[in-house]
Amino acid sequence: MFNSIRFAERSANGALVVGIFNDRKLDAATKSLDKDGSIATAAARPECSGELGKFGEAYPSGKGAPSRVIIVGLGKREDFKTGSLRSIGGQIGRRLAATKDAHAQFELAGSLGGADKVNLEEAGQCLGEGLGLIGWKNWQFKGTAGGEKGKKTDLSVSASNARFGAGVKRGMAIAESANLCRDLSETPPNIATPAWIAAQCRTMAKKTGLKITVLAGKDLERERMTGLINVGKASINKPCLVRLEYTPKTNKSAKPVVLVGKTMTYDTGGLSLKVNNGMVGMKRDKDGGCAVIGAMHAIATTIKPNRPVVALLAVAENSVSDEAYRPDDVLTFRNGVTVEVTNTDAEGRLVLADGLIWACEKENPACVIDLATLTGGVVTALGSTFAGMFCEDDALRGKLGKAMDASGERWWRLPMDAEYRDMMKSPIADILNSNPNRKAHPIQGAAFLSYFVSPKMPWAHIDIAGVHAAESDNGCFVKGPTGWGVRLLAEFIGN
Ligand code: BES
Ligand code: MN
Ligand code: ZN
Repeated sequence: MFNSIRFAERSANGALVVGIFNDRKLDAATKSLDKDGSIATAAARPECSGELGKFGEAYPSGKGAPSRVIIVGLGKREDFKTGSLRSIGGQIGRRLAATKDAHAQFELAGSLGGADKVNLEEAGQCLGEGLGLIGWKNWQFKGTAGGEKGKKTDLSVSASNARFGAGVKRGMAIAESANLCRDLSETPPNIATPAWIAAQCRTMAKKTGLKITVLAGKDLERERMTGLINVGKASINKPCLVRLEYTPKTNKSAKPVVLVGKTMTYDTGGLSLKVNNGMVGMKRDKDGGCAVIGAMHAIATTIKPNRPVVALLAVAENSVSDEAYRPDDVLTFRNGVTVEVTNTDAEGRLVLADGLIWACEKENPACVIDLATLTGGVVTALGSTFAGMFCEDDALRGKLGKAMDASGERWWRLPMDAEYRDMMKSPIADILNSNPNRKAHPIQGAAFLSYFVSPKMPWAHIDIAGVHAAESDNGCFVKGPTGWGVRLLAEFIGN
């Protein structure tokens, strides 16, 4: 893709991007840009059908003419949804990377003004997110044998409509936070150890003005972080708990939103070792935490909400050695709950338990939201389209629904019930970390976690195992990490 992409307040020579609905009528603003009639001519060509996401090009001539005009199809006027501009941003971004234009001016406000109730700022934001997300670089680990990398362009984008432009700028900024999450996710486990994650958080916190505390070694013992200590025991890369805090300028003493992230830098399964290549890709078992880090970055740099936000990252590597925790171990957690370990591959819930207990006991939260690549079962159930979401609090669920609509990061509610909680009971301890009966794995995970959240606390658990990475290039994403959750949480906190 590009070497870099940024928003420019002024337009420059380069490509021009305009929109057309499927009735193929050029709006007045586009007409006024069509100095030599080449846009109108191109818009009559078959590839400029106005179908959503299809585009054609015009090549105007004359002094000061753009290098090309990309005429983007916006679909049916009455069906237009601003969210479709993310994927359109991705497609245009791909084209601009190929044409090597150094600047692109987006003049979509005119055409969008002809659709029902389009909020131009929202539309701009979606486009900016799409451009920023497609601009994510995934070649940081290419070496000397990586083949022709080619000369990559530094792209700047602009928009003459102030509201649309402000949206594009904001969208690009939020995408940058999502891209931070993707960089962390992409970093291989020989580099991205728990200590490395903590160091990255320190750097980010310093840059953005967040407060940071890292608990490791003796601190974890003192604070009885049973899950982290046991799950992280086998690895030479020792576990830690990272706490990030955003404090607003006013309203400092309001109850914080607390975000908890599963940050497993690698998941071998532990002694219940993953087999049949099930281990490949488990560097991304840290993506819940990476999304929380990205969200905190967005909160500190773009959202700047008028309420406190705390992030708790449970960071460990689930490895194998003679010091590993074992199936049959019984663990006593800080809140007194005892857990019989039946499967060391159900490790995420153990480290999240520490984060959830801490959140409820120490942070006096308004609500707690955890993100985790918790179960393969949620991938089976929902694929890569929706995350699995558990939340019994109507108000919190409602707000997360609004954030889903605004961000396009979608979740589907899964049930919680006393019967599932009963399924987790152990004959020798309070609960099991996994019921061997293989039933309802994603719900078992949530049911387990519920034992570590105070009874009336508004709490949501989001299982992102299906959505945190894309298997192929699609829309504004390339194969690899999606940064899922950064934009959802940023929207949630911002409203
Ligand atoms: N990290 C995995 C879940 C996972 C699977 C994430 C696939 C991404 C893609 C988790 O720790 C795990 O191993 N879960 C087990 C739970 C089981 C042992 C109860 C699973 O889903 O099989
Ligand atoms: Mn596991
Ligand atoms: Zn895991």
